[in-house]
Amino acid sequence: MTPVRTLGRTGLPVSPLGFGVTGPHASPVVPRQDTITLIHQAIDLGLTLFDTGPAYGDGEAESRLGEALAGRDRSRLIIATKAGIPARGQRDFSPDGITASLDASLSRLGTGHADILLLHGPHSNELTPDLFEALARIESAGKARHIGLCTRGDATAAVLAHDLFDVLMAPCHSGLSQTEADILDRAHTAGIGVIGIEAMAGAGGRWRWPHSRGDLWYLARAALQTVKGPAAPPARGNPQDAMSAALAHPHVDSVLSLTTRGTHLAENARRAGLDRTRAPS
Ligand SMILES: NC(=O)c1ccc[n+]([C@@H]2O[C@H](COP(=O)([O-])OP(=O)(O)OC[C@H]3O[C@@H](n4cnc5c(N)ncnc54)[C@H](OP(=O)(O)O)[C@@H]3O)[C@@H](O)[C@H]2O)c1
Repeated sequence: MTPVRTLGRTGLPVSPLGFGVTGPHASPVVPRQDTITLIHQAIDLGLTLFDTGPAYGDGEAESRLGEALAGRDRSRLIIATKAGIPARGQRDFSPDGITASLDASLSRLGTGHADILLLHGPHSNELTPDLFEALARIESAGKARHIGLCTRGDATAAVLAHDLFDVLMAPCHSGLSQTEADILDRAHTAGIGVIGIEAMAGAGGRWRWPHSRGDLWYLARAALQTVKGPAAPPARGNPQDAMSAALAHPHVDSVLSLTTRGTHLAENARRAGLDRTRAPS
């Protein structure tokens, strides 16, 4: 049996491991077909949660996921996308902006609804009553089944303050601050579905000799982070232990993993108890 968890009060059945169609999968450095092959491998391994957003390659990641999902059983899959950063370098959390962003995402994804629409890193002053009304309209129109927040910033507390938010996407690595750990605990206790990110938290190492096109992308990102300062805290332990710890986190329903390698995907799936290759759907 494929292990399934329930994503908090949403009731959505999710695999303990999800797949992030972001970063390298939105870049010409990684060929489109490589992304599609990995998504198909993920589905066949039993992963059901896929995360993406318009900010990744200005819609390229969503478009790749949409192409990969064509002909697959959409009803078995949980698709999360984001709004608020409609393209790289832009921010728009206005009601019209969020609504237009979701419409464009659904078109690229080739689906009539997102299972989860996450606000992508809003500041608390961007969470206005008008925005909440627009999100409630989106939900009642069935364009997004659930609304959530993807944040590590000052807006995190909003997930607990507003019934509208059913899902929190937040870091879940072993180096969390007490404040970050507390918010996961409180969100989980309140019945909010918790999706963990940054499981590796750099545990794969920031610098490595590139052996693949994906490695070239990571190398470019690492170079950029050296200039800007790292987004994630320094590495702790090796990647395998980091993934196991995230999967065992008591307050996290599903852990997202970003990978450009089928071998890593299979290994992560095995750690999540998804060790059986199923007949392709
Ligand atoms: N981090 C954020 O700011 C953020 C924000 C919003 C959403 N998310 C979501 O979270 C997802 C995960 O991203 P993340 O930033 O949290 O990254 P992550 O999954 O913690 O780490 C990704 C890194 O781990 C490596 N890796 C994966 N499996 C491995 C294994 N078994 N052994 C060794 N190395 C392994 C990958 O390299 P290979 O390609 O070589 O496997 C890649 O360098 C994203 O795709 C996205 O859906 C993240």
